[in-house]
Amino acid sequence: MRRLTLSIVILWCVTSAAVSWWLEATELSNPALAQVAPSSSLDSDGEPDRPISGASVPSATPSRQSAEATYVGRDACRECHTENHTWHGEHGHHKTFATTDDPEIIRLFEGRSYDSGEPYGTFTYHADEKGLFARIPEKFGDRPFRLQYALGSPEGAVTLLSLLPDGEQNTFAIEHRVSWFHDGDELRPTPQEDDGNPKTAADFFGLRHEGRVMKKCVYCHTTRGTIENETIVDLISGVNCEKCHGPGSEHVRLARSSKTPPKYSVGRDDWDAESEIQLCGDCHRLPVTVSRSQLREYPDELTRFQPVGLLRSRCFVEAEGQLRCTTCHNPHQTIKSIPASEHIENCVRCHQETNPSHTLCPINTTDGCIDCHMPARELPGLSVSFHDHWIRVHPNKSSSP
Ligand code: HEC
Ligand code: HEC
Ligand code: HEC
Ligand code: HEC
Ligand code: HEC
Ligand code: HEC
Ligand code: HEC
Repeated sequence: MRRLTLSIVILWCVTSAAVSWWLEATELSNPALAQVAPSSSLDSDGEPDRPISGASVPSATPSRQSAEATYVGRDACRECHTENHTWHGEHGHHKTFATTDDPEIIRLFEGRSYDSGEPYGTFTYHADEKGLFARIPEKFGDRPFRLQYALGSPEGAVTLLSLLPDGEQNTFAIEHRVSWFHDGDELRPTPQEDDGNPKTAADFFGLRHEGRVMKKCVYCHTTRGTIENETIVDLISGVNCEKCHGPGSEHVRLARSSKTPPKYSVGRDDWDAESEIQLCGDCHRLPVTVSRSQLREYPDELTRFQPVGLLRSRCFVEAEGQLRCTTCHNPHQTIKSIPASEHIENCVRCHQETNPSHTLCPINTTDGCIDCHMPARELPGLSVSFHDHWIRVHPNKSSSP
């Protein structure tokens, strides 16, 4: 069943002009994260079904803490790591999940409407103290449909998710049909695959997800959270400190009694490039999460999955472990706050005259590297673009634009 879904999605991504944003054939099980963050791991589901056999995601984690460490929340880190805490507060990671009683989310939808055309009709939105609701007056009159969770951030795009009972003691999710986009400050259709044939009232409001797909959606956008009936319990919203570093209670305790606490997590010397790419790739995707034909053909859609591109770059393959995500990204600082000049400095730290072990660009040795070697690609059907992390020479980029 799951395999069937996978192949349909892959086929659809390759053949259709539109692209499903958030529903990919992804595999999600970082055993190491599971170790430090049992409640947010998906491993309890049993053996994951991987799209490519034989591959595995070895231990990527960080944490060397005792098993008793518990979550303390990101604000517990502020007193000693003020700068990282402030930066992270501005990062998409921090803002990527909310309940819809959040005034910032309400503001994006309340009082608006969106005509989805037949067969769905026109959605209207209102809020009360519980959060957001949608109605389709011409189909269901005054009956409200509760929209519970908001994924994505107000700097990018926000998609709403609801949890419902299926009548047989299982929960399913509805990914709402309409999303809010920062670009244009407007409501537009959520990029998703649907058969245009709603069977139940819930189907009018969005696309149905069950089981692993539903859980993964929550996993990648939160630090911790378990779907129990129609709510997420033990929820820590957003990709916060402890998602990457592991539960922090022991570290906080030890750091309070010593200026040189024992090793807690990543950020010290023995953290290698591959482990890091696996940590980031757990959500930003790894080769194991895309189809073989996509790996072979590298269609533009794959630019969305930065680790997949980076791993095939000569910069990565031939740099002997010196190139990783954090060579160019401070994991705590949003890319929106990084000046363009810093991206060039990142390239030039290897590709410069004083570094005889690296080749120099015959076209330009000081500027424009990203436009020519990591160009942004807009995904078909979406007003969103991603930079191609397969760093290479693009034949049509031999002169400045
Ligand atoms: C009471 C002060 C204090 C608090 C609170 C604190 N830390 Fe630290 N942290 C330290 C000190 C001291 C170090 C060691 C400094 C160094 O090695 O440069 C450190 C080091 C680290 C490191 C570097 C890697 C390592 O293994 O040591 C990470 C990552 C880290 N802290 C994350 C966190 C997170 C996440 C939180 C919140 C859950 C947190 N810290 C809360 C004091 C604190
Ligand atoms: C638990 C899942 C998860 C992990 C692990 C993760 N990310 Fe993300 N990342 C996300 C999500 C979800 C978003 C979208 C955030 C939003 O809504 O804007 C994102 C967005 C980003 C962005 C763009 C947003 C911004 O404000 O800059 C960058 C850059 C990024 N991640 C880098 C990284 C790097 C580097 C790592 C590894 C150190 C990493 N991520 C690990 C889930 C994750
Ligand atoms: C494998 C991890 C993963 C899963 C599963 C996943 N996401 Fe994401 N999501 C990401 C990452 C990483 C990003 C940031 C990069 C991108 O846009 O692809 C993101 C971006 C988004 C954004 C756009 C954020 C912005 O501000 O630009 C939305 C909205 C979103 N996801 C919603 C969902 C929904 C709804 C589901 C479940 C149906 C889902 N995601 C499942 C990892 C995931
Ligand atoms: C997306 C994953 C991710 C998140 C979220 C994250 N970190 Fe980190 N952090 C890393 C990685 C990877 C490193 C090691 C690479 C480096 O040093 O830049 C690191 C390094 C560190 C370090 C040691 C180096 C330094 O910058 O001082 C500290 C301290 C730290 N993190 C604290 C925090 C705190 C506090 C938060 C939350 C406010 C946080 N981190 C959130 C991935 C993350
Ligand atoms: C950690 C060092 C390092 C960094 C940082 C780095 N590269 Fe490279 N890059 C390499 C190595 C190693 C090679 C293989 C050739 C050589 O030794 O110069 C390479 C090769 C290349 C090539 C040739 C690719 C091909 O397929 O023939 C291009 C183009 C390139 N780099 C551009 C960039 C750009 C642009 C940046 C910044 C976004 C960058 N590099 C950052 C190490 C690096
Ligand atoms: C050689 C430098 C370099 C490395 C290494 C690198 N990135 Fe990037 N990344 C960039 C640049 C440049 C941008 C575009 C920044 C901008 O828009 O200002 C970017 C953008 C992004 C974005 C925002 C969406 C997009 O594609 O435009 C995400 C997410 C991201 N990188 C994740 C990662 C992850 C995860 C890794 C590790 C697998 C990684 N990056 C490694 C240079 C790098
Ligand atoms: C206007 C587009 C453009 C800009 C700007 C540009 N490059 Fe290039 N680069 C190219 C082209 C085209 C080639 C292939 C040239 C050839 O093979 O004759 C190339 C080749 C390279 C190579 C491979 C050299 C070799 O001998 O294999 C590296 C490394 C490189 N560029 C790095 C950079 C860096 C770093 C920057 C920024 C400081 C940069 N490039 C700026 C277009 C550009």
